[in-house]
Amino acid sequence: MIKTNIFGYRRGIFAGLVLFGLAMMQGATAQMYPMDSRQGMSGEELFPTCAFCHGTQGQGGPALDAPALAGMEAWYVERQLHNFRNRIRGTHYDDVPGVQMSIVSGMVRNDATIKNIAEYIEDMEPGAPPELARGEVAGTDRPFIWRSKYAALQHPSEPDVAKGEEIYVSACIACHGINGNGNVLLGSPKLVNQTDWYMERQLQYFRDGIRGADPSDVYGPQMALFAKTLADEQAIADVVAYIMTL
Ligand code: HEC
Ligand code: HEC
Repeated sequence: MIKTNIFGYRRGIFAGLVLFGLAMMQGATAQMYPMDSRQGMSGEELFPTCAFCHGTQGQGGPALDAPALAGMEAWYVERQLHNFRNRIRGTHYDDVPGVQMSIVSGMVRNDATIKNIAEYIEDMEPGAPPELARGEVAGTDRPFIWRSKYAALQHPSEPDVAKGEEIYVSACIACHGINGNGNVLLGSPKLVNQTDWYMERQLQYFRDGIRGADPSDVYGPQMALFAKTLADEQAIADVVAYIMTL
């Protein structure tokens, strides 16, 4: 079992609230539509708020631990937003970034708004300059210190793409597909547009029961089962390095 990290959790909530406040000041108004209203905010209106953390081109950014969104399938975005909103994801004490997204999901309580933003994200063109997503741009340093073993993957040697391919073919291909494009029928997302640092952390999370462990999570536990087959941090680094070549 993982020791709970209340200090980190509090810091996550604090950082989340500060960032959320800043994101709100970016121009988007909190949507006031009731949860079951058929009307919601449009994706275009809402996205600038998301862009505060996920990048103006939806390219993601490690400074705020926010994954790439551009081109993500609408059904997967919808499911994750429902999971954050319904406290199925992003509630674990060791999940500092997830707690932040969980707080933000408070502004997308309305189902119609979730659908609109999901469709908007699916239509966004992936492929922003990779150095942007890697944070190799001035001014994208982490704004707060996040002391956790999940802040960065510790692997002893350089990732081995060939070993990663072996792992992918034996343990991942059945659901995420030969080209890493995912499979809607199995509920498994596309991986090819995602950043390496985010995927590494999610694999650790699934393995350690931080994501995909809630009893009402239908899809997470299926993934968690396979994350537990990854022998160590090196295996995580290897398989992610292979995914980045797809
Ligand atoms: C305060 C910063 C912040 C804001 C603002 C924000 N997010 Fe996030 N979001 C995050 C972080 C951090 C994560 C990663 C959580 C994790 O590691 O589990 C995340 C995760 C997600 C995911 C899950 C992606 C995946 O691959 O599973 C989706 C979908 C998402 N955000 C959509 C949105 C949308 C839509 C908005 C705007 C309404 C938004 N986010 C606003 C920080 C933010
Ligand atoms: C049984 C089918 C299945 C297998 C096999 C599988 N996955 Fe998954 N994977 C999923 C599902 C379903 C999800 C989405 C879970 C959710 O909705 O939270 C997922 C999510 C992920 C994510 C998070 C993506 C994101 O945007 O947050 C990563 C990374 C990932 N899988 C990598 C892998 C790797 C690497 C392997 C092989 C070791 C693997 N998966 C094996 C079904 C599978």
